[in-house]
Amino acid sequence: MQIFKEKQALKNQITAFKKEGLSIGFVPTMGALHEGHLSLIEEALSSCDTVVVSIFVNPTQFDNPNDLEKYPRTFEDDVMRISQLENDRDIIIFSPPASEIYGNEVVSEKFSFDGLEYQMEGKFRDGHFNGVGTIVKKLFEMVEPDKAFFGEKDYQQLQIIKKLVEKLDLPIEIVGCPIHRETSGLARSSRNERLSAEDRQTASFIFRVLQKTKEDFGTKSANEIASWVEEEFKNHPAIELEYFEIANADTLESIQQRENGQKYRAFIAAYFGDVRLIDNIALN
Ligand code: PAJ
Repeated sequence: MQIFKEKQALKNQITAFKKEGLSIGFVPTMGALHEGHLSLIEEALSSCDTVVVSIFVNPTQFDNPNDLEKYPRTFEDDVMRISQLENDRDIIIFSPPASEIYGNEVVSEKFSFDGLEYQMEGKFRDGHFNGVGTIVKKLFEMVEPDKAFFGEKDYQQLQIIKKLVEKLDLPIEIVGCPIHRETSGLARSSRNERLSAEDRQTASFIFRVLQKTKEDFGTKSANEIASWVEEEFKNHPAIELEYFEIANADTLESIQQRENGQKYRAFIAAYFGDVRLIDNIALN
């Protein structure tokens, strides 16, 4: 395993790999690694000769300074977890300081993602996807991966990255990976670190609501399901709903009428105290 903090050192190593004809898998993260992240790295190891994992808490994608400040940073632990995954494949950790990525100007580029950016998270997290697009584009330029791995946990982000690659015409295959969950059903997230064991158990309520949504999708209308979900959250003492949405899995547009041949997913964002949690489920 090698750890690089400077982009030039990373680029030199990438050039050397390319000369040897090795394929490069890339897993971008913001650290505080959990089994969800590790499942992405394992997927990358299984299909690429070498794997780059970036660990960078990207300031431009946080709309809330408090969230950025409180974001967990566990670098030593992250390195240990990654080292345990290494088999015969090389893993490179890229963990640059912000100045290495942004120089003196910590600003986002503005993107159009053909409307994907205005749905769900886009309505509640101002500038978030411009921040994500900015960092992922920069990292793609540095790593030049053959494949990049993203979790369905952040399903809207996954769709946006696919759009980014299409628009920039980059020769990178984007691989979506399933959501990894705690035994309670709660989707794994670095933000779960900020919840007690008991709170995490309570927060699995979000997944149970999604499962019921899936069960009812065959027999009830989207409006009926949405009303039921809103009512469930109103009655919940600790978790506050930010949004519930049933949307087309490709366009992310809110469902109007169910159409044959289309895939749909249900999405939830909710607050447990000041911890923001998101989750989603495939409905058909
Ligand atoms: P981060 O939240 O650290 O997530 C890194 C990757 O891990 C993302 O692709 C995310 O979808 C995936 N992931 C997180 N939790 C998961 C889970 N429970 N199951 C499966 N995959 C999971 O997403 C980001 O960082 C950033 O926006 C980033 C893309 C790195 C850009 O800064």
